[in-house]
Amino acid sequence: MNKKIILDCDPGHDDAVAIMLAAASKELEILGITCVGGNVGLDNTVNNALKVCTLIERTDLKIYSGASKPIHYDLFTAEYVHGKTGLDKKGDPIIISSDYKVEDQNAIDFIVDTCKSSTDQIYLCPTGPLTNIALSLQKNPSIKEKIKEIVFMGGAAMCLGNTTPSAEFNIFVDPHAANIVLGSGIPITMMGLDVTHQVNVNKTIINSINENNNKSSKFFGELMDFYTIFHKKLYETEDTPLHDPCVIAYLLDPSIFTGKLVNVVVEENSELTRGATIVDWLGVTNRNPNCHVMNYANDKKFFALLKNKLSTLP
Ligand code: RIB
Ligand code: CA
Repeated sequence: MNKKIILDCDPGHDDAVAIMLAAASKELEILGITCVGGNVGLDNTVNNALKVCTLIERTDLKIYSGASKPIHYDLFTAEYVHGKTGLDKKGDPIIISSDYKVEDQNAIDFIVDTCKSSTDQIYLCPTGPLTNIALSLQKNPSIKEKIKEIVFMGGAAMCLGNTTPSAEFNIFVDPHAANIVLGSGIPITMMGLDVTHQVNVNKTIINSINENNNKSSKFFGELMDFYTIFHKKLYETEDTPLHDPCVIAYLLDPSIFTGKLVNVVVEENSELTRGATIVDWLGVTNRNPNCHVMNYANDKKFFALLKNKLSTLP
């Protein structure tokens, strides 16, 4: 049975790959793609989602614009990783057709209305700051009954942060939203840096995927060529973590990952540790387990899946 999903994202090079992987998977029914301010400002994340869906010839997918900033903090963006547009790359620019536009309905209203009216349970797949998800839960808490699972990219259980020494970007940007989601009682799976740093793209993988010999795989390569620049400098390695597609790969083949059900809460205000995910891996607190934290990925299975799926796109 198809999984019905809403992909909430801040494209972003790795978000773009998550969109491509989801769009290539008949096992998933994408009810909509909602965008949030994150890697870059909201206008650019929306525009980038339109670009990706145009490139893969999926302009049937509806794009919704959501929160332009976190619940309390000002927006912190990552042009230093993704470039000025948020999807900088070499190669031909993507021209969005004039009749493919962002939907009029706001992303939060779309999420609430879609959950309320759905006869099936829905998977929410956030790969950016959790602002849209949190605002949807605040707007209508009863939608919890219609949400099967929230699988999100964010956080860091036992490894360094990538935005501050203690915080991963998505959670750093909106820690208040993260705690609203983590406190919702909905089944949650966390794809944090612990596991996404085991799924590293490099030249060998880019060349292998290019053997698909289609425009979507070529686009993947162009995206990765830009996306790896920052990571090579920061981590001094040729390997670059492909964070966001882990969310979609988990829905397609959960056996790629393993983890543990533990308690996770987020530091909201500290000057030093804002956005830190406090993961009680050893169960030393009396806080209830609320999140399935992944800490192992079979990267060979992941990239075999990604290459196969990208080969089915135009
Ligand atoms: O920390 C990595 C995450 O932050 C990814 O989702 C990336 O796209 C950015 O949103
Ligand atoms: Ca993202």
